[in-house]
Amino acid sequence: MSDYRQLEERYSLNVYPKRSLVLVKGQGARVWDEQGKEYIDCVSGNGVANIGHGNEAVIQAMTRQARRLMTCSGIFYNDARARLLEKLVGIAPKTLTRAFLCNSGAESIEAALKFARFTTQKTEIICAVRGFHGRTLGALSATHNPRYRQGFGPLVPGFHHVPFNRFEKLKEKVSDQTAAVLLEIVQGEGGVHIGGASYFKQVQELCRDRGILLIIDEVQTGFCRTGKMFACHHFDLQPDMLCLAKAMAGGVPMGAVLCRETIRLPVGTHGSTFGGNPLACAAAHAAIDFMIAHGLEKQAREKGHYLVNQLQQHDLKPVREIRHLGLMIGIELRTRVKPYILKLLDAGVLALPAGRTVLRLLPPLTIAYEELDAVGKALVTVLDEK
Ligand SMILES: Cc1ncc(COP(=O)(O)O)c(C=O)c1O
Repeated sequence: MSDYRQLEERYSLNVYPKRSLVLVKGQGARVWDEQGKEYIDCVSGNGVANIGHGNEAVIQAMTRQARRLMTCSGIFYNDARARLLEKLVGIAPKTLTRAFLCNSGAESIEAALKFARFTTQKTEIICAVRGFHGRTLGALSATHNPRYRQGFGPLVPGFHHVPFNRFEKLKEKVSDQTAAVLLEIVQGEGGVHIGGASYFKQVQELCRDRGILLIIDEVQTGFCRTGKMFACHHFDLQPDMLCLAKAMAGGVPMGAVLCRETIRLPVGTHGSTFGGNPLACAAAHAAIDFMIAHGLEKQAREKGHYLVNQLQQHDLKPVREIRHLGLMIGIELRTRVKPYILKLLDAGVLALPAGRTVLRLLPPLTIAYEELDAVGKALVTVLDEK
Protein backbone atom coordinates (compact mmCIF):
# COMPACT_ATOMS: atom_id res chain seq x y z
CA MET A 1 0.00 0.00 0.00
CA SER A 2 1.34 3.47 -0.81
CA ASP A 3 2.48 5.72 2.04
CA TYR A 4 -0.33 8.18 1.39
CA ARG A 5 -3.00 5.51 1.40
CA GLN A 6 -1.57 4.18 4.62
CA LEU A 7 -1.57 7.63 6.22
CA GLU A 8 -5.18 8.31 5.28
CA GLU A 9 -6.24 4.86 6.45
CA ARG A 10 -4.43 5.41 9.71
CA TYR A 11 -5.44 8.98 10.50
CA SER A 12 -8.70 9.86 8.77
CA LEU A 13 -12.08 9.07 10.25
CA ASN A 14 -12.67 6.90 7.16
CA VAL A 15 -16.21 7.87 6.27
CA TYR A 16 -15.74 7.58 2.51
CA PRO A 17 -15.97 4.37 0.45
CA LYS A 18 -12.50 4.70 -1.08
CA ARG A 19 -11.13 3.63 -4.44
CA SER A 20 -7.58 2.44 -4.22
CA LEU A 21 -5.76 5.26 -5.94
CA VAL A 22 -3.97 8.38 -4.74
CA LEU A 23 -4.72 11.34 -7.00
CA VAL A 24 -2.03 13.98 -6.93
CA LYS A 25 -2.52 16.21 -9.97
CA GLY A 26 -5.19 17.45 -12.37
CA GLN A 27 -5.32 19.42 -15.59
CA GLY A 28 -8.44 20.03 -17.64
CA ALA A 29 -10.45 16.79 -17.67
CA ARG A 30 -7.49 14.63 -16.65
CA VAL A 31 -6.09 13.59 -13.29
CA TRP A 32 -2.98 11.62 -12.42
CA ASP A 33 -2.20 9.20 -9.64
CA GLU A 34 1.05 9.06 -7.70
CA GLN A 35 2.53 6.56 -10.16
CA GLY A 36 1.85 8.95 -13.02
CA LYS A 37 -1.08 6.93 -14.43
CA GLU A 38 -3.55 9.21 -16.22
CA TYR A 39 -7.34 9.08 -15.91
CA ILE A 40 -10.17 10.91 -17.61
CA ASP A 41 -12.12 12.42 -14.77
CA CYS A 42 -15.89 11.95 -14.96
CA VAL A 43 -16.16 12.44 -11.20
CA SER A 44 -14.82 16.01 -11.13
CA GLY A 45 -14.67 16.06 -7.33
CA ASN A 46 -18.38 15.06 -7.32
CA GLY A 47 -19.46 17.65 -9.86
CA VAL A 48 -17.16 20.49 -8.82
CA ALA A 49 -14.62 20.85 -11.63
CA ASN A 50 -17.03 22.14 -14.32
CA ILE A 51 -14.35 24.48 -15.71
CA GLY A 52 -11.65 21.78 -15.55
CA HIS A 53 -8.81 21.18 -13.15
CA GLY A 54 -6.04 23.76 -12.89
CA ASN A 55 -8.05 26.49 -14.58
CA GLU A 56 -5.61 29.29 -15.27
CA ALA A 57 -8.14 32.13 -14.90
CA VAL A 58 -9.07 30.93 -11.41
CA ILE A 59 -5.45 30.38 -10.42
CA GLN A 60 -4.53 33.92 -11.46
CA ALA A 61 -7.53 35.50 -9.75
CA MET A 62 -6.77 33.60 -6.53
CA THR A 63 -3.09 34.42 -6.62
CA ARG A 64 -3.85 38.14 -7.03
CA GLN A 65 -6.46 38.04 -4.26
CA ALA A 66 -4.27 35.99 -1.89
CA ARG A 67 -1.67 38.76 -2.10
CA ARG A 68 -4.28 41.46 -1.41
CA LEU A 69 -6.62 40.05 1.26
CA MET A 70 -7.59 36.44 1.99
CA THR A 71 -10.04 36.85 4.82
CA CYS A 72 -12.46 39.60 5.68
CA SER A 73 -15.31 39.30 8.15
CA GLY A 74 -18.84 39.84 6.92
CA ILE A 75 -19.03 42.79 9.30
CA PHE A 76 -16.90 44.74 6.79
CA TYR A 77 -17.59 45.51 3.15
CA ASN A 78 -15.14 44.04 0.65
CA ASP A 79 -14.40 44.71 -3.04
CA ALA A 80 -14.09 41.06 -4.18
CA ARG A 81 -17.29 40.11 -2.37
CA ALA A 82 -19.24 43.08 -3.73
CA ARG A 83 -18.21 42.25 -7.29
CA LEU A 84 -19.19 38.59 -6.90
CA LEU A 85 -22.60 39.43 -5.42
CA GLU A 86 -23.37 41.67 -8.39
CA LYS A 87 -22.21 38.94 -10.81
CA LEU A 88 -24.28 36.22 -9.12
CA VAL A 89 -27.47 38.22 -9.11
CA GLY A 90 -26.77 39.10 -12.75
CA ILE A 91 -26.84 35.43 -13.83
CA ALA A 92 -29.67 34.34 -11.50
CA PRO A 93 -33.35 33.92 -12.40
CA LYS A 94 -34.54 37.52 -12.50
CA THR A 95 -36.62 37.46 -9.31
CA LEU A 96 -33.58 36.54 -7.19
CA THR A 97 -31.98 39.77 -6.20
CA ARG A 98 -29.89 39.03 -3.10
CA ALA A 99 -27.41 36.37 -2.00
CA PHE A 100 -26.14 34.86 1.22
CA LEU A 101 -22.63 33.46 0.75
CA CYS A 102 -21.42 30.34 2.55
CA ASN A 103 -19.01 27.44 2.08
CA SER A 104 -20.76 24.27 0.96
CA GLY A 105 -23.93 22.75 -0.36
CA ALA A 106 -25.22 21.54 2.99
CA GLU A 107 -24.59 24.96 4.46
CA SER A 108 -26.59 26.62 1.70
CA ILE A 109 -29.49 24.22 2.38
CA GLU A 110 -29.31 24.89 6.13
CA ALA A 111 -29.46 28.61 5.47
CA ALA A 112 -32.40 28.30 3.06
CA LEU A 113 -34.34 26.18 5.58
CA LYS A 114 -33.75 28.74 8.30
CA PHE A 115 -34.69 31.62 5.98
CA ALA A 116 -37.89 29.81 5.00
CA ARG A 117 -38.98 29.16 8.57
CA PHE A 118 -38.15 32.68 9.65
CA THR A 119 -39.83 34.37 6.70
CA THR A 120 -43.06 32.36 6.81
CA GLN A 121 -43.13 31.73 10.57
CA LYS A 122 -44.18 28.19 9.60
CA THR A 123 -42.29 24.99 10.22
CA GLU A 124 -43.03 22.28 7.68
CA ILE A 125 -40.90 21.49 4.66
CA ILE A 126 -41.96 19.22 1.80
CA CYS A 127 -39.13 17.38 0.06
CA ALA A 128 -38.89 14.54 -2.43
CA VAL A 129 -38.34 10.83 -2.19
CA ARG A 130 -34.80 10.12 -3.48
CA GLY A 131 -33.86 13.77 -2.85
CA PHE A 132 -30.39 14.52 -1.55
CA HIS A 133 -29.52 17.80 0.16
CA GLY A 134 -26.45 17.11 2.30
CA ARG A 135 -25.31 15.59 5.57
CA THR A 136 -25.70 18.22 8.27
CA LEU A 137 -28.73 17.71 10.51
CA GLY A 138 -31.13 20.07 8.73
CA ALA A 139 -29.99 19.05 5.26
CA LEU A 140 -30.07 15.39 6.33
CA SER A 141 -33.65 15.81 7.51
CA ALA A 142 -34.47 16.97 3.99
CA THR A 143 -32.50 14.09 2.45
CA HIS A 144 -34.58 10.99 1.84
CA ASN A 145 -32.27 7.95 1.72
CA PRO A 146 -32.57 6.03 5.03
CA ARG A 147 -29.00 4.77 4.57
CA TYR A 148 -27.73 8.31 5.22
CA ARG A 149 -30.22 9.05 8.01
CA GLN A 150 -30.11 5.91 10.15
CA GLY A 151 -28.46 6.28 13.54
CA PHE A 152 -28.41 10.10 13.53
CA GLY A 153 -31.84 10.75 15.01
CA PRO A 154 -33.71 12.53 16.22
CA LEU A 155 -33.57 14.55 13.02
CA VAL A 156 -35.17 17.97 12.67
CA PRO A 157 -38.97 17.64 12.87
CA GLY A 158 -41.33 18.95 10.22
CA PHE A 159 -39.93 17.32 7.07
CA HIS A 160 -42.14 15.30 4.70
CA HIS A 161 -41.01 13.26 1.70
CA VAL A 162 -43.33 12.82 -1.25
CA PRO A 163 -42.71 10.96 -4.57
CA PHE A 164 -40.74 13.12 -7.02
CA ASN A 165 -42.40 14.33 -10.20
CA ARG A 166 -45.94 13.52 -8.98
CA PHE A 167 -47.73 16.77 -8.37
CA GLU A 168 -50.86 15.32 -6.76
CA LYS A 169 -48.78 13.56 -4.09
CA LEU A 170 -47.02 16.81 -3.24
CA LYS A 171 -50.28 18.77 -3.18
CA GLU A 172 -51.80 16.28 -0.72
CA LYS A 173 -49.04 16.99 1.79
CA VAL A 174 -49.45 20.78 1.78
CA SER A 175 -50.96 22.19 4.96
CA ASP A 176 -51.36 25.61 6.52
CA GLN A 177 -48.08 24.91 8.33
CA THR A 178 -46.07 24.39 5.12
CA ALA A 179 -43.18 26.84 4.99
CA ALA A 180 -41.43 25.58 1.87
CA VAL A 181 -41.10 23.01 -0.85
CA LEU A 182 -37.49 21.95 -1.43
CA LEU A 183 -36.65 20.16 -4.69
CA GLU A 184 -33.79 19.36 -7.03
CA ILE A 185 -34.43 19.84 -10.75
CA VAL A 186 -32.41 16.71 -11.51
CA GLN A 187 -32.02 14.36 -8.58
CA GLY A 188 -28.29 13.70 -8.70
CA GLU A 189 -27.38 11.38 -5.83
CA GLY A 190 -30.84 9.86 -6.11
CA GLY A 191 -30.07 8.38 -9.55
CA VAL A 192 -30.14 11.24 -12.14
CA HIS A 193 -33.92 11.61 -12.34
CA ILE A 194 -35.11 14.67 -14.23
CA GLY A 195 -38.28 16.44 -13.15
CA GLY A 196 -40.87 17.34 -15.81
CA ALA A 197 -41.71 20.87 -16.99
CA SER A 198 -45.39 20.59 -16.09
CA TYR A 199 -44.54 19.20 -12.64
CA PHE A 200 -42.36 22.18 -11.79
CA LYS A 201 -44.88 24.63 -13.25
CA GLN A 202 -47.69 23.15 -11.15
CA VAL A 203 -45.52 23.13 -8.02
CA GLN A 204 -44.59 26.76 -8.59
CA GLU A 205 -48.23 27.77 -9.04
CA LEU A 206 -49.28 25.87 -5.93
CA CYS A 207 -46.54 27.56 -3.92
CA ARG A 208 -47.61 31.01 -5.16
CA ASP A 209 -51.29 30.31 -4.40
CA ARG A 210 -50.63 28.99 -0.90
CA GLY A 211 -47.88 31.43 0.16
CA ILE A 212 -45.31 28.62 0.30
CA LEU A 213 -41.67 29.30 -0.55
CA LEU A 214 -40.16 27.31 -3.40
CA ILE A 215 -36.52 26.39 -2.72
CA ILE A 216 -34.62 24.83 -5.59
CA ASP A 217 -31.44 22.93 -4.78
CA GLU A 218 -29.01 23.45 -7.65
CA VAL A 219 -25.92 22.47 -5.72
CA GLN A 220 -25.19 19.78 -8.33
CA THR A 221 -27.06 21.08 -11.37
CA GLY A 222 -25.85 24.69 -11.17
CA PHE A 223 -23.20 26.50 -13.18
CA CYS A 224 -23.84 25.09 -16.67
CA ARG A 225 -23.78 21.38 -15.74
CA THR A 226 -27.18 20.70 -17.35
CA GLY A 227 -26.72 22.97 -20.37
CA LYS A 228 -28.07 26.16 -18.78
CA MET A 229 -26.37 28.35 -16.20
CA PHE A 230 -28.99 27.01 -13.76
CA ALA A 231 -31.27 24.06 -14.47
CA CYS A 232 -34.34 26.06 -13.47
CA HIS A 233 -33.76 28.10 -16.66
CA HIS A 234 -34.82 25.00 -18.65
CA PHE A 235 -38.32 25.41 -17.22
CA ASP A 236 -38.42 29.17 -16.75
CA LEU A 237 -38.80 28.61 -13.01
CA GLN A 238 -38.68 31.55 -10.64
CA PRO A 239 -37.96 30.00 -7.22
CA ASP A 240 -37.94 32.01 -4.02
CA MET A 241 -34.51 30.65 -3.11
CA LEU A 242 -31.81 28.89 -5.11
CA CYS A 243 -29.13 26.86 -3.31
CA LEU A 244 -25.71 26.70 -4.95
CA ALA A 245 -22.24 25.32 -4.23
CA LYS A 246 -19.95 22.70 -5.89
CA ALA A 247 -18.79 24.27 -9.20
CA MET A 248 -19.36 27.83 -8.05
CA ALA A 249 -15.74 28.78 -7.35
CA GLY A 250 -13.83 26.49 -9.71
CA GLY A 251 -12.90 24.01 -6.96
CA VAL A 252 -12.59 26.35 -4.00
CA PRO A 253 -15.18 25.55 -1.30
CA MET A 254 -18.08 27.96 -1.64
CA GLY A 255 -21.87 28.02 -1.48
CA ALA A 256 -24.67 30.52 -1.79
CA VAL A 257 -28.38 31.00 -1.35
CA LEU A 258 -29.87 33.36 -3.90
CA CYS A 259 -33.02 34.96 -2.54
CA ARG A 260 -36.05 36.93 -3.57
CA GLU A 261 -36.45 40.41 -2.09
CA THR A 262 -39.13 39.03 0.26
CA ILE A 263 -36.55 36.92 2.12
CA ARG A 264 -35.24 39.30 4.76
CA LEU A 265 -33.70 38.52 8.13
CA PRO A 266 -32.89 40.92 10.92
CA VAL A 267 -29.20 41.80 11.13
CA GLY A 268 -27.31 39.30 13.30
CA THR A 269 -29.68 36.36 12.88
CA HIS A 270 -27.47 34.33 10.52
CA GLY A 271 -23.83 34.28 9.44
CA SER A 272 -20.69 32.32 8.68
CA THR A 273 -17.04 33.09 9.45
CA PHE A 274 -15.73 31.96 6.07
CA GLY A 275 -18.88 32.80 4.08
CA GLY A 276 -18.04 35.28 1.33
CA ASN A 277 -14.31 35.35 2.07
CA PRO A 278 -12.43 37.35 -0.57
CA LEU A 279 -10.33 34.41 -1.78
CA ALA A 280 -13.36 32.28 -2.62
CA CYS A 281 -15.17 35.33 -4.05
CA ALA A 282 -12.29 36.09 -6.41
CA ALA A 283 -12.18 32.44 -7.51
CA ALA A 284 -15.96 32.34 -8.09
CA HIS A 285 -15.92 35.59 -10.07
CA ALA A 286 -13.21 34.23 -12.35
CA ALA A 287 -14.94 30.83 -12.65
CA ILE A 288 -18.28 32.38 -13.64
CA ASP A 289 -16.59 34.71 -16.15
CA PHE A 290 -14.87 31.66 -17.65
CA MET A 291 -18.19 29.77 -17.93
CA ILE A 292 -19.76 32.69 -19.78
CA ALA A 293 -16.76 33.50 -22.01
CA HIS A 294 -16.36 29.86 -23.07
CA GLY A 295 -20.06 29.19 -23.63
CA LEU A 296 -20.11 26.28 -21.19
CA GLU A 297 -23.93 26.08 -21.28
CA LYS A 298 -23.78 25.22 -24.99
CA GLN A 299 -20.75 22.99 -24.55
CA ALA A 300 -22.56 20.96 -21.86
CA ARG A 301 -25.63 20.55 -24.09
CA GLU A 302 -23.66 19.51 -27.17
CA LYS A 303 -21.21 17.24 -25.39
CA GLY A 304 -23.97 15.57 -23.39
CA HIS A 305 -25.81 14.66 -26.61
CA TYR A 306 -22.55 13.61 -28.27
CA LEU A 307 -21.62 11.10 -25.57
CA VAL A 308 -25.14 9.75 -25.06
CA ASN A 309 -25.56 9.32 -28.86
CA GLN A 310 -22.38 7.28 -28.94
CA LEU A 311 -23.68 4.98 -26.23
CA GLN A 312 -27.06 4.64 -27.90
CA GLN A 313 -25.44 3.26 -31.06
CA HIS A 314 -24.79 0.05 -29.12
CA ASP A 315 -27.07 -2.57 -27.69
CA LEU A 316 -25.58 -2.64 -24.22
CA LYS A 317 -27.21 -5.52 -22.37
CA PRO A 318 -26.65 -4.34 -18.80
CA VAL A 319 -28.16 -0.92 -19.58
CA ARG A 320 -31.81 -0.35 -18.69
CA GLU A 321 -31.99 3.37 -19.50
CA ILE A 322 -29.79 6.41 -20.10
CA ARG A 323 -30.99 9.70 -18.61
CA HIS A 324 -29.23 13.01 -19.06
CA LEU A 325 -29.57 16.75 -19.02
CA GLY A 326 -26.47 18.35 -20.51
CA LEU A 327 -23.38 16.70 -19.10
CA MET A 328 -25.19 15.26 -16.10
CA ILE A 329 -25.53 11.67 -17.23
CA GLY A 330 -27.04 8.66 -15.48
CA ILE A 331 -26.79 5.18 -16.96
CA GLU A 332 -29.27 2.95 -15.19
CA LEU A 333 -28.10 -0.65 -15.15
CA ARG A 334 -29.99 -3.88 -14.60
CA THR A 335 -27.42 -4.91 -12.00
CA ARG A 336 -25.22 -3.35 -9.36
CA VAL A 337 -22.98 -0.60 -10.64
CA LYS A 338 -19.88 -1.06 -8.51
CA PRO A 339 -18.09 -3.73 -10.63
CA TYR A 340 -18.49 -1.51 -13.70
CA ILE A 341 -17.03 1.48 -11.89
CA LEU A 342 -13.98 -0.61 -10.98
CA LYS A 343 -13.59 -1.87 -14.57
CA LEU A 344 -13.78 1.71 -15.83
CA LEU A 345 -11.10 2.68 -13.35
CA ASP A 346 -8.83 -0.01 -14.83
CA ALA A 347 -9.65 1.40 -18.27
CA GLY A 348 -8.55 4.87 -17.13
CA VAL A 349 -11.97 6.50 -16.60
CA LEU A 350 -13.21 7.73 -13.23
CA ALA A 351 -17.00 7.51 -12.78
CA LEU A 352 -19.47 7.79 -9.91
CA PRO A 353 -22.39 5.71 -8.70
CA ALA A 354 -25.77 7.32 -7.99
CA GLY A 355 -27.43 4.71 -5.84
CA ARG A 356 -26.89 0.98 -6.36
CA THR A 357 -27.62 0.65 -10.06
CA VAL A 358 -26.90 4.00 -11.69
CA LEU A 359 -23.55 4.93 -13.20
CA ARG A 360 -23.16 8.70 -13.08
CA LEU A 361 -20.88 10.79 -15.28
CA LEU A 362 -20.06 14.39 -14.37
CA PRO A 363 -17.03 15.27 -16.50
CA PRO A 364 -15.63 18.80 -16.67
CA LEU A 365 -17.68 20.74 -19.23
CA THR A 366 -14.41 21.68 -20.89
CA ILE A 367 -13.67 18.02 -21.71
CA ALA A 368 -12.28 17.63 -25.26
CA TYR A 369 -14.17 15.62 -27.88
CA GLU A 370 -11.28 13.13 -28.13
CA GLU A 371 -11.58 12.61 -24.38
CA LEU A 372 -15.33 12.07 -24.73
CA ASP A 373 -14.59 9.52 -27.46
CA ALA A 374 -12.23 7.71 -25.09
CA VAL A 375 -14.89 7.74 -22.34
CA GLY A 376 -17.50 6.43 -24.80
CA LYS A 377 -15.16 3.68 -25.97
CA ALA A 378 -14.32 2.61 -22.41
CA LEU A 379 -18.01 2.57 -21.46
CA VAL A 380 -18.96 0.47 -24.46
CA THR A 381 -16.14 -2.00 -23.80
CA VAL A 382 -17.04 -2.34 -20.14
CA LEU A 383 -20.80 -2.47 -20.67
CA ASP A 384 -20.79 -4.61 -23.77
CA GLU A 385 -21.20 -7.98 -22.07
CA LYS A 386 -22.43 -10.42 -24.60
C1 LIG B 1 -28.24 18.39 -4.75
C2 LIG B 1 -27.25 18.47 -3.62
N1 LIG B 1 -27.53 19.24 -2.56
C3 LIG B 1 -26.68 19.35 -1.53
C4 LIG B 1 -25.49 18.67 -1.52
C5 LIG B 1 -24.54 18.81 -0.35
O1 LIG B 1 -23.43 19.54 -0.73
P1 LIG B 1 -22.08 19.47 0.14
O2 LIG B 1 -21.53 18.11 -0.03
O3 LIG B 1 -21.23 20.56 -0.46
O4 LIG B 1 -22.47 19.78 1.54
C6 LIG B 1 -25.15 17.85 -2.60
C7 LIG B 1 -23.89 17.08 -2.61
O5 LIG B 1 -23.69 16.17 -3.35
C8 LIG B 1 -26.06 17.75 -3.68
O6 LIG B 1 -25.80 16.97 -4.74
